[in-house]
Amino acid sequence: MNSLNKFNHNTTVVGVIGHPIKHSFSPLMHNISFELNDLKYVYLPFDILQSNLEDAMKGMVALGIKGFNVTLPYKEKIIELLNEISEESTIIGAVNTIVNDNGKLIGYNTDVHGVLASLTPYKEEITDKTVTVIGAGGSARSTIFALIRNFKVKKINLVNRTAQKAESLRDYFAAKMLYKSIKSFELVPPDLVDVFAKSKLIINTTSVGMFPDIDDSPTTIAESFNNKQIVFDLIYNPLKTKFLKLAASKGAKTINGLTMFVEQGAKSFELWTGEEMPVDKIKTTIKSYLEQ
Ligand code: ATR
Repeated sequence: MNSLNKFNHNTTVVGVIGHPIKHSFSPLMHNISFELNDLKYVYLPFDILQSNLEDAMKGMVALGIKGFNVTLPYKEKIIELLNEISEESTIIGAVNTIVNDNGKLIGYNTDVHGVLASLTPYKEEITDKTVTVIGAGGSARSTIFALIRNFKVKKINLVNRTAQKAESLRDYFAAKMLYKSIKSFELVPPDLVDVFAKSKLIINTTSVGMFPDIDDSPTTIAESFNNKQIVFDLIYNPLKTKFLKLAASKGAKTINGLTMFVEQGAKSFELWTGEEMPVDKIKTTIKSYLEQ
């Protein structure tokens, strides 16, 4: 009975919008955090078709929903439906968190904090080096922004299934951040072995290899990797993607998406509640769920 009484007129609703959404661990992460911090909030997943995105924003205001995370494929498209976006989001061109400030919808990018938390321990190794980024969507934008601004990387190879999207993103960062050292490639793994092998850091920002498609990988060519590299997969489910397993088999250092996931969530949590998420406890909890 107690748990049924928990949600009442004092409960603040937040959630995540995207399509598909069913494998997200965000509801688990935020609801445990609300419980631990004794906050009267609830976090719900909303699977929204693109044709309903505009109505969803109107519904958010009408229903007094306090905030949303925005996940694939809407991180870029959502911007035109918001009243205001943060300075970082303006440069990145992607939003993953919305705050409903009394009817004014404000967009933020907390993914960039997740990227920073994941890569900062390797800062000295990465600075002024060549990096390959796979993917040209919203997550790639946040990653490239951090690589340019915080790690001052020498060169970025931008690899994407749709070559034209990689070219557009290359031109976007040349104009927005005056960074002219991005080279774009089509994701054809046999042609890219050299591009991968000569990179100090390789980052997968696509959903390729994510549960349930755990046998997929952006490249299955082991020669793409070596023991001087750092290989980062933004995917957290599974913790060891096929991509990371292959990199590790060649001696590369690997970074999974757990820190990225929890740290971006912690920033969103702070924007909605004004409180700090108990990050260490949450990381341990999510990790044990993922390892089950
Ligand atoms: P996010 O916001 O998480 O970055 P997104 O904006 O939808 O999501 O971008 C997804 C990225 O993953 C894109 O770069 C997409 O490639 P395309 O530009 O060709 O669509 C990439 N991606 C998704 N599924 C893929 C697949 N099966 N193979 C290769 N790339 C894929």
